[in-house]
Amino acid sequence: MYPFSFRLFYCAAAFTISILSCQSNAKPEMAEKSNADSMNRKWWKEAVVYQVYPRSFKDADGDGVGDLKGIISKLDYLKSLGIDVIWLNPVFASPNADNGYDISDYRTIMKDFGTMADFDSLLNGLHQRNIKLVMDLVVNHSSDEHEWFKQSRSSRTNPYRDYYHWWNAERGKPAFRPGAFEVDGSGWRFDSLTNAYYLHYFSYKQPDLNWENPKLREEIYAMMNFWFQKGIDGFRMDVIPFIAKDTTFPVITQKVLDEQYGGGWDHYMASGPHLHDYLKEMNNEVLNKYDCMSVAEGAGVTTGTAHDFVDEDRHELNMLYHFEGVSLGFVPGKFKQVKPGGINLVEFKNLYSKWDTVFADKGWGTIYLGNHDQPRMVTRWGNDSPEWRELSSKMLTTFLFTMRATPYYFAGDELGMNNIKFEKIEDYRDIESIGMYNQIKNNGGDLKEFLNDQKITARDNARTPFQWDNTTNAGFTTGIPWLKINPNYTTVNVAVEEKDSTSCLNYFKQLLRLRKENLVLTYGKYTLLDKDNPNVYAYSRELDGKKLLILLNFTASPASVNTGMDISMAKLLIDNYGKAASNNSLQPYEAAIYEITSNE
Ligand code: GLC
Repeated sequence: MYPFSFRLFYCAAAFTISILSCQSNAKPEMAEKSNADSMNRKWWKEAVVYQVYPRSFKDADGDGVGDLKGIISKLDYLKSLGIDVIWLNPVFASPNADNGYDISDYRTIMKDFGTMADFDSLLNGLHQRNIKLVMDLVVNHSSDEHEWFKQSRSSRTNPYRDYYHWWNAERGKPAFRPGAFEVDGSGWRFDSLTNAYYLHYFSYKQPDLNWENPKLREEIYAMMNFWFQKGIDGFRMDVIPFIAKDTTFPVITQKVLDEQYGGGWDHYMASGPHLHDYLKEMNNEVLNKYDCMSVAEGAGVTTGTAHDFVDEDRHELNMLYHFEGVSLGFVPGKFKQVKPGGINLVEFKNLYSKWDTVFADKGWGTIYLGNHDQPRMVTRWGNDSPEWRELSSKMLTTFLFTMRATPYYFAGDELGMNNIKFEKIEDYRDIESIGMYNQIKNNGGDLKEFLNDQKITARDNARTPFQWDNTTNAGFTTGIPWLKINPNYTTVNVAVEEKDSTSCLNYFKQLLRLRKENLVLTYGKYTLLDKDNPNVYAYSRELDGKKLLILLNFTASPASVNTGMDISMAKLLIDNYGKAASNNSLQPYEAAIYEITSNE
């Protein structure tokens, strides 16, 4: 991606740093500090973000739905993890067509979740424990039950009409735009009241806001300031590249349509002409007033466009998370179908190495394998059979905590929770799964194939209630859970894992401490080793003469690795088997981190 001159410059700079650090007489900690300083240290670069999906975390009032009081009752658990930041999925008033991603009032708490007083005590409780709170900013669209939309749809001359995108029917049908959750797949809905279509990239219950209207933007910035003044520490920005649109709505070419699930719609859907003007304006009106963090859900963002969002001198956002990694292995033209035969590790390594290079000099990356839109990471990227679930889950956590990027970790993955794999559509609650099922059904498609694919990739797999203990309903609720609980809760749960020193949970905590104690894991240079090895992901991290080696076997068989380093004398910092790997080979799903001393 980078021009040759940049690569040369980068290598030369790294080389100079290692020579200097060898010659220096400074104490190692001093040297580390000075060099890390040159990496432009920031709290959000050094943080581990833990994502709480409130609907599924803990239900305090027995209605089967998680809530804020539930989270409050688990603050000490959150503290015990050692994480720095909570990203809370939307908790605002919502009719819940898309579990809170359809907001009907941005300044009110959803009834199911509690009250503003509950929110204030949650924020307080987190801050008392030195944990920051990042909220979800969902401003590409609102709910159709938001007052703005009610006004907007009421007449063509209503002052709120231009808060949304309308296409008057006398102009003919608007050019196709996808509506992700709609049975007919269309992103336009006809509204007979004013004889016009309105735009919705997701469901018809989620009309897209019109960012081209300065009044709408002012309202959004005022709302963001309202939450910052309450003391929150940042925003995760839902599908933020979609906010700006080419309002001429040009016809999408067939070629682009064919790439439907390959992200080819970027030009038509995302990154509209004024996107970066709006992000700069948002930074100026809101973000730069606070010591906060911002992270874009980077739908459609590529290594080529990433810098436009996160370079510091552009004054837009801090970080983004891309979709390239989690989309790896999808069959083109199919809805979230994973190619048979497991992951192609060489492709996986190249992809994450490419993204590391992008931010090696400027900007800052994120790393994740799971969230509320993804299946459980151990099912998708590891191996959730009883034999390998724990080991492979620990191995993946090792990957996430040893890359040069801010880790975003989804609640429950620290327990090694895996996909529930529903057999029938009736078990699903997610608008995406249900909408797609009906779409395939209407088109006479293969429903069996779809349901099989969903066992691996459906979002509800990640949304099953959090597993606290082996009492009824995993200790999540005394009522009827809104989504079925994974039956393995009797053995995979916090209570059991807290007591077991070898559990996923205790490994997670140990690894997190290791990341905190070794700044090299945050800022150190990343080098991919043994790059064509199809089974093992090996890399080093280096900072000021400190060098760590990370070895990850991504397979269920023993695997050999050739890093060119003799690890027999190296110091083993952690291993998911609890004991050292032999020099050049790894056990199934083994993960090991070594400190390489200068003699190696
Ligand atoms: C984002 C959210 C997802 C939601 C969609 C529409 O991708 O993460 O959960 O369904 O936006 O708001």
